[in-house]
Amino acid sequence: MPGLDTKIHLDMLRDFKRRMPLPLRLVRAIKRELFNPDIYGLEWGDPEVVAPLGYLRDRFLVPYIRPDRVALEIGPGGGRWTRYMLTAQQLYVVDFHQELLDQLARRFKKPNMVFVHNGGDDFPKVPDHSVDFLFSFGVFVHLDPEIIGRYLANMHRVLKPGADVVLQYADQTKDMAKGNPGFSDNDPERMRALVTNAGFKIVEEDLTTLWHSSVIRFQA
Ligand SMILES: C[S@@+](CC[C@H](N)C(=O)[O-])C[C@H]1O[C@@H](n2cnc3c(N)ncnc32)[C@H](O)[C@@H]1O
Repeated sequence: MPGLDTKIHLDMLRDFKRRMPLPLRLVRAIKRELFNPDIYGLEWGDPEVVAPLGYLRDRFLVPYIRPDRVALEIGPGGGRWTRYMLTAQQLYVVDFHQELLDQLARRFKKPNMVFVHNGGDDFPKVPDHSVDFLFSFGVFVHLDPEIIGRYLANMHRVLKPGADVVLQYADQTKDMAKGNPGFSDNDPERMRALVTNAGFKIVEEDLTTLWHSSVIRFQA
């Protein structure tokens, strides 16, 4: 641990000033506006900017997106995470609200994308045992365990054997979840039970990166 005479803090400030002079910051802001216009949802945190979200993207999303694999996202919203899934062989974007799918289509519309308007817990139009990777963020945090259970049961039909599933869910053991009225009554113990009772094998959990929720990865 450095002592009080350390220059570490002054060095960090000087380094910041050297790397980020005002003209450079302005150029970056203009580039961002021109080439990466607003995506609905970035106000909840941009994985490009917010380190914990970037970490989750790199650990739980990017490694599973491959040109020879089929991916499915539940509740894509404005595409905050969808933008990292576009290189999948085929990408099903499944949402309960047509308006959100329309918003997504305005920003992202690629030949490999299939837009699916669902009934809140199912996968219409998605062929049996066709999906290699299923991802959802910002959705299951709002779903009651009963609906999560129905979703999990319905996943079996569309997932290939051994497919990976990554879900972020509300974690009421964390203070920031308790204070959020939109978050459902869920926690790691309940989520583990839901996942295993549905017949899946839990592979990995992240209980620490997020301040109001947790992440679970399991396999079909
Ligand atoms: C809070 S937004 C999150 C969007 C995006 N995943 C993100 O993290 O920025 C929730 C999204 O899930 C959709 N949604 C809500 N309930 C759903 C359900 N039961 N099944 C599928 N989509 C749902 C909403 O329409 C919306 O697109």
